[in-house]
Amino acid sequence: MRFQPLFDWISKRFVFESSEYLLAFVCFVLVMHLQNLLQQRFRDSLSSLTDRADVYAEMIRPTADPKHGDYQCNCAMPLSKEIGKNPRDVAAEIIASLAIEDICETPEIAGPGFINLKLKDEFICRQIERFLGDERCGVEAVDQGKSIVIDFSSPNVAKPMHVGHIRSTVIGDALARCLRFLGYQVETDNHLGDWGTQFGIIIYGYKHFGDPQVVDANPVQELAKLYRIVNQLIEYRKAKRSIEALEHSVAEAEGGLAQAEHASDEAEESKQKAARKAVASAERRLQSAAEALRSSVEKVEAVESDSLWADRAAMHPDIDQAVLEETAKLHRGDAENLGLWEKFLPHCKDEINRVYDRLDVEFDHTLGESFYHDRLGGVVDKLRDAGLAKDSDGAVCVFLENFDAPMIVQKQDGAYLYATTDLATLQYRLEQFEPSEILYVVDTRQSEHFDKLFAVADQFGLENVKLVHVNFGTVLGEDGKPMKTRSGSLIGLESLLDGAVDRAKQVVCDPERLASFDPPMDQAEQEMIAEVVGIGAIKFSDLSHHRTSDYRFNLEKMVALEGNTSAYVQYSFARTQKILENAQKAEGDVSEMVADSGIAFSHPAERHLALMLMKFEESLVALHKDYAPNQLVDYLLETARAYSKFNENCHVLRAETPQIQATRLALVCLSGRVLQLGLRLLGIGVVPRM
Ligand code: ARG
Repeated sequence: MRFQPLFDWISKRFVFESSEYLLAFVCFVLVMHLQNLLQQRFRDSLSSLTDRADVYAEMIRPTADPKHGDYQCNCAMPLSKEIGKNPRDVAAEIIASLAIEDICETPEIAGPGFINLKLKDEFICRQIERFLGDERCGVEAVDQGKSIVIDFSSPNVAKPMHVGHIRSTVIGDALARCLRFLGYQVETDNHLGDWGTQFGIIIYGYKHFGDPQVVDANPVQELAKLYRIVNQLIEYRKAKRSIEALEHSVAEAEGGLAQAEHASDEAEESKQKAARKAVASAERRLQSAAEALRSSVEKVEAVESDSLWADRAAMHPDIDQAVLEETAKLHRGDAENLGLWEKFLPHCKDEINRVYDRLDVEFDHTLGESFYHDRLGGVVDKLRDAGLAKDSDGAVCVFLENFDAPMIVQKQDGAYLYATTDLATLQYRLEQFEPSEILYVVDTRQSEHFDKLFAVADQFGLENVKLVHVNFGTVLGEDGKPMKTRSGSLIGLESLLDGAVDRAKQVVCDPERLASFDPPMDQAEQEMIAEVVGIGAIKFSDLSHHRTSDYRFNLEKMVALEGNTSAYVQYSFARTQKILENAQKAEGDVSEMVADSGIAFSHPAERHLALMLMKFEESLVALHKDYAPNQLVDYLLETARAYSKFNENCHVLRAETPQIQATRLALVCLSGRVLQLGLRLLGIGVVPRM
């Protein structure tokens, strides 16, 4: 076999030198991953024409239309400009020295100089045979010795998890699974917010509204209740204070609109368009000012119109200050508050762990902010010693080039900040895990924080690690605004999961659908399927959008059997299992059949599916490059569609010859494995039938 000499070379080298092993390994990966393999061959050919062979070889892409083959290289056109020749001639020269006959049919030149590549059926078939006997479905494992730390989920505990926590949890978990599968040593760390104001809130709530017996009897719910009471009173205070200013800005926006309208009436023909734009933007400004005022007025009215709440508000006029004071006392080590914190924290963790269990998410480490508390003073000292931090108006700040505001690491009152903790965390992770990369899977709205953190880290002598803010956009409701319940609070994560599972039950366990199942599906199986499909739907739809875009949460679309959904992929998997069951073949039997007869294509749908199965690794490498799980989602959808085409066109049980049957069973087997593994790498399960 073609790669055998390489295997031998690698295993010989490995004994001697680990760095050589690494090099060999890199070559090995290049050889195995199809697009890279083609690029490698092009690079060799191009090197006689240009010294930028790398750049031109990169221009190999899968074709959009199978009429033009499987891959296309567009490098002849730009290269012809560089060397002053006709592009079609350049294409011919590239092809003349291209050693590719073991992989592709003779390349064709099309149009102005496109080079079209069609893989040899023979080559694809050999790969499929190889993948069939490989539990990694052809994906090579890298081994680079260093670890990748992934900081994800990281909710502020002591308040219920809400829809905003989905993204970090689901994206981070998918990245961890994929990178681990690719062979990296991954350390996942849930950087819990377990030391912030929210504890001041529940401590205050407990002292003033709590009944110790009731809390002891039902801590998770009672603490959440206390959090909500205190938080609502704080919000009330804030809203009440803001109303005057908000009224003022509404009045101003009204004035602005009147002015813009007047200007538009007066504007001459050529300025009409600009004037109308100005009116539209003044309208938007008024709308958002009015919206802000309305929301504050609602918060105030909700409290003042209810005698219980009005009394509470009257009794706690300085609640926001008082809550800050409780937090400060905790940080100073006050025995009572520290005792309460120690009492409450395990319950707060129980609450989030329930959600993690349900989402099937685990962490290697859960080092919350509190873990770093004792190190914060040291961080500030170190920054001072390095001449980075300076006193400024009583606070300690790091001034950074290219930023308007400095990074504050200690406030006037001595309190440390989020950024200080992140610097301590960074230092700890570097010592502890010696990572090559640290990924922070955190909302885009924290970009500035991370920009500054990374800038300080650079100056701090921590530059030998790649720090990445794997940022993501917002989950929006149907109205295109950040998702909230009617009362205005963020939707709880658990009720969202319940909603998806209910919906999945309606869709997948519809009695009419189930009527044909034999043996019939009992209640327990239905519930299991609804859970796998419902939770999978939430994860899959979240991961299907590029992480940086916002998306609208739409349960109906997420949980559908057709469309770009996990249920569609899960259903495709179930179909593979059904076929294997009907054929009464286990994987071992299929491998034997293939060993006897070999694989050969008799229908284009087989070839297309086989080609998709070969691209699994490409999708994972692309995912790592941009930390973008949607690469794998897209791949799985495309593969499921290719499988469906194959299913419609290629009978397995009634196949005409043993070789055709072996080929089809091999494709069914491998499709099932790739779909199942791909979903698993996204943190999504499958069911044997649905
Ligand atoms: N707890 C923070 C929040 O909810 C997110 C923490 C992200 N990780 C970090 N190292 N800053 O906003």
